[in-house]
Amino acid sequence: MKHLKSSCIVGSTLGISGMFFVLTASPAAAAPDGKMIFESTCSVCHSVMPPPKSAPPIVPIASRYRQRFATKSKGVEHMVSFLKSPSKEKMVADPQAMERFGLMPAMQLSDAELNTVAGWVWDQGSAGGWGPGSGAGKGQGAGNGIRKP
Ligand code: HEC
Repeated sequence: MKHLKSSCIVGSTLGISGMFFVLTASPAAAAPDGKMIFESTCSVCHSVMPPPKSAPPIVPIASRYRQRFATKSKGVEHMVSFLKSPSKEKMVADPQAMERFGLMPAMQLSDAELNTVAGWVWDQGSAGGWGPGSGAGKGQGAGNGIRKP
């Protein structure tokens, strides 16, 4: 939703009230898209980028799905089945997430909504640069020969 992003930029230059106006006036409000479902249903627990709220952030989750599944349709299919009835066995993203956050509750959404939001989650995997091989790389320092304890 490129145009939504740009309306946010316009909105923020107008201040908060301006942003609300631009968002509610957006034609995208007519047909719920993945981002809107995420914001109304998932963002209570999930942030998009770290730091986490009460669940693992979406971008790293999406990157793990991209590593695990060769195609978007396979990844989305698995994610939808997880969203309908989350279980430890179905977890792909981070096996430790459950110990840290507990198991996610099942989502009461239609199949169409689940597919839409899962597709949106998948798409976030390319946005944040968390994918395989894109690490920032630290630790190349030359050192100055002085050892600190
Ligand atoms: C009540 C809090 C809560 C809500 C609401 C919630 N989640 Fe989660 N979600 C969690 C927690 C906690 C985990 C980590 C533990 C787990 O995997 O069950 C998780 C994990 C996940 C995972 C990783 C699954 C895996 O394969 O490891 C995905 C994907 C996900 N959520 C998507 C969503 C989407 C999409 C929505 C909205 C439709 C949503 N969540 C709503 C709490 C929530």
